[in-house]
Amino acid sequence: AAKDSMTIDPLRTVAKEMKFLTGNIRKLLGSGHPALDRVAKYYTQAEGKHVRPLIVLLMSRATHLCPKSPRDVAPETSRAIDTSISPMQILSDVNPMTSSTSYESEAAESANLDILPSQRRLAEITELIHTASLLHDDVIDHSVSRRGAPSANLEFGNKMAVLAGDFLLGRASVALARLRNAEVVELLATVIANLVEGEFMQLKNTERDERSPKWSEETLSYYLQKTYLKTASLISKSCRAAALLGNADQHTVEAAYSYGRNLGLAFQLVDDMLDYTRSGQDLGKPAGADLELGLATAPLLFAWKQMPELGALVGRKFAQEGDVQRARQLVLQSDGVEQTRALAYDYSERAIAAIADFPDSEAKDGLIEMAHKTIQRQK
Ligand code: FPP
Ligand code: MG
Ligand code: MG
Repeated sequence: AAKDSMTIDPLRTVAKEMKFLTGNIRKLLGSGHPALDRVAKYYTQAEGKHVRPLIVLLMSRATHLCPKSPRDVAPETSRAIDTSISPMQILSDVNPMTSSTSYESEAAESANLDILPSQRRLAEITELIHTASLLHDDVIDHSVSRRGAPSANLEFGNKMAVLAGDFLLGRASVALARLRNAEVVELLATVIANLVEGEFMQLKNTERDERSPKWSEETLSYYLQKTYLKTASLISKSCRAAALLGNADQHTVEAAYSYGRNLGLAFQLVDDMLDYTRSGQDLGKPAGADLELGLATAPLLFAWKQMPELGALVGRKFAQEGDVQRARQLVLQSDGVEQTRALAYDYSERAIAAIADFPDSEAKDGLIEMAHKTIQRQK
């Protein structure tokens, strides 16, 4: 009970920055072509959870108190460079259609606060890359709904959805280059490659030609590697980038990365668990979708270890009549869901441990609270 009364709302800590997030993202996405403009901004309409930018902003604030010693700081700090980039300039080159932005005045207003304009831009870039991956993912997964509305592929067709995703990646890349930090560019470019690698591992996983694969320890490590690439890479590398932009010391940069990696793994494990435990209405997207897609995620992999008969179903990607129902039933009879929850809990604890050395701050408490929320979330 004492703990409950002490929980802080992570959003509150960075509420001011979050308030401008969607508007700034929409400005980065402006296109002179009305149809492209519409598809590109489509997923910014419904309020997403904005978990990634929230974490980036909290990490920016929490690592602010761990600067490199002055002699380590390169003469040109990102702070000096950032203030020299006019957001007007960012938009005028790439987007002649947009006439104004409030980003500049807003940046000036917060010039003496501890979140840098470059870190706020990073939060936006992170959400852009995530949204691009959702546009592509919904095509690959033949999704019909996202965030409680028809998915972009359903609303505009596959071609438009794919092109819109590419457009988001293009605009994210321009904004990234404008940060003038080669290490950060390299990190986020690697994330984009990692997303594709993770998606490929997932597809290949479901296209194995073995008729009746056997469970092995490798089954789980393959799944975890795929999960890192597909989900945790973006969160961990953007946490690292946030610390780098703030000129944090090496130890802090590594801690930020470790927090993001463990939180990202916990986040996806919970996602895979909710696919078994929650209804589509709760999720805002169809539930039980993974089995329908032929995907064996953590709850099923744990069940498979106890019930070798699941191997045959995995081998044929749950494609035979009744396979999906049978697999679902076996998973719910096993303790696969519980084991997934326990593993997610483990990772969230590791995320919290990773930042134990950070000086006390409201932002640090916010990061800890995000780790708790990750395993408590219901959708
Ligand atoms: C959602 O997973 C999708 C991802 C986390 C990443 C998908 C990555 C790609 C499609 C690679 C190419 C894309 C880019 C932009 C580089 P999910 O299908 O498990 O979740 P969902 O239930 O929300 O659809
Ligand atoms: Mg999907
Ligand atoms: Mg998918």
